[in-house]
Amino acid sequence: MNRDVEQSQANPLREGLASRAVPQPCSVVIFGATGDLTHRKLIPALYNLAADGELPPAVTVIGFARRQKSDDDFRREMEESTRKFSRQPVRDEIWKTFAQSIFYHQSDFADENGFKTLADRLARVDKERGTRGNRLFYFAVAPDQFEPILENLKTAGLNQAAEGSWARVIVEKPFGTDLASARELNRVVHNSFAENQTYRIDHFLGKETAQNILVLRFANAIFEPLWNTRYIDHVQITAAETLGVEGRAGYYETAGALRDMVQNHLLQLLCLVGMEPPTDLDADSIRDEKVKVVRSLRRMSDVETTVVRGQYATGAINGKPVPAYREEENVDPKSTIDTFVALRLQIDNWRWADVPIYMRVGKRLPKSGTEISVHFKKAPAVLFNKENVTLDQNVLVIRIQPDEGISLRMQAKVPGTSLRIEPVKMDFHYGTSFGKASPEAYERLLLDAMSGDATLFARRDEVEEAWAFIDPIEEAWHAKVGAPGLYFYPAGSWGPNEADELLARDGRAWRRL
Ligand code: BG6
Repeated sequence: MNRDVEQSQANPLREGLASRAVPQPCSVVIFGATGDLTHRKLIPALYNLAADGELPPAVTVIGFARRQKSDDDFRREMEESTRKFSRQPVRDEIWKTFAQSIFYHQSDFADENGFKTLADRLARVDKERGTRGNRLFYFAVAPDQFEPILENLKTAGLNQAAEGSWARVIVEKPFGTDLASARELNRVVHNSFAENQTYRIDHFLGKETAQNILVLRFANAIFEPLWNTRYIDHVQITAAETLGVEGRAGYYETAGALRDMVQNHLLQLLCLVGMEPPTDLDADSIRDEKVKVVRSLRRMSDVETTVVRGQYATGAINGKPVPAYREEENVDPKSTIDTFVALRLQIDNWRWADVPIYMRVGKRLPKSGTEISVHFKKAPAVLFNKENVTLDQNVLVIRIQPDEGISLRMQAKVPGTSLRIEPVKMDFHYGTSFGKASPEAYERLLLDAMSGDATLFARRDEVEEAWAFIDPIEEAWHAKVGAPGLYFYPAGSWGPNEADELLARDGRAWRRL
């Protein structure tokens, strides 16, 4: 199908302005069907979409994995996890109908024959269930499995669709571990699928509040004129988690916080905050502007003074003692992996010249929460802002999660006969304003992929530019001589003191979450 036609069919940012396209009937083949992601996120997301009436009834899910099991075994397992992880309680009658659209296909990823039988099966599903030759292949597997799967899909002719149908591939993170491996992965993917068939997941983009950033900026007339170096003092982005490594040491030991969170999720948020208005709401117009932000990021030359690398030591979360990262299962007792990073970034363009961007991300912090705060410059030192009185800055806070919403801090006169000024907050909460829960990120993203809307997926150049920014930091950390230190912080604290010093040196402080 023509790419322009595909991508103009649906766009969440257009909701309310024009009708949203309906996802098309298709088969969703999940590689890695017995894995964690399928259990915790994918099947519960598909169930919720079905329960909310968002899925065409023909949508058929085929779990593809190595272990032997029957369709019924697989359905039972999926039911168990959906009951555990679903956003809304599972209703028996809906599950019963939904379960009829789930199947299991046993094969090794390297077994060509398993893909031939998959092709036959998909053809049968098209006939019996009306999926119209549309196929969505979901790669919920480790990246080292991508190549055999992609090659076998190609050999079985599944990378191409019949006239009037489509074949798409959704690729999970991590998308490479550095620029070279990301390029190689892109090459491998593009051997079988074209860019307009490739949907790279960054689940932060599927979060309701992340999508709202562009609406806030470009659907309101009052923010955009202030959104620049003239009025903004600095921006902070924090992604804090109380969780530790949670049994994912195998992956995390080769990743760390910078690769796990900053390269993708945090830079994506920064793009939404920093980008210029796109010319229209097409996927590529938006992504063209986003990629310019990453391209404009000043490359880190002085990693020692602009990046703080931390790792949690023993401590307590909510009063309960927790072990150090180095004591977690399958973690090297001498590991130097970062579980915390704080950075000072600079976007070298006209809008953001001289506006520092501070980012921090960490595991085992005292509170879970992701937010962006835009700190405006102080009112001039005249009238209320002089003689020993320092008024606070106006701060616009975009709470990505939890308690999704936006608040604006401003100054107000305290009631009374004397003139006392104190900051107050104007606060908008999604929950109370709209009275309904937001869908999970994976629900939105699966639906968009079924509708052919790539707006909320990372494009090839975005991913590569992000690695080009991250690589010098990792290289500095791993230098044989003069590598910047690794700072330990007690679990349950806000990271190493050095992260506070990073801002204190500029006369600033992290916002308290
Ligand atoms: C994932 C990271 O991409 O995002 C995890 O691999 C992290 O380490 C998670 O915990 C955070 O996502 P969310 O949606 O729970 O904030």
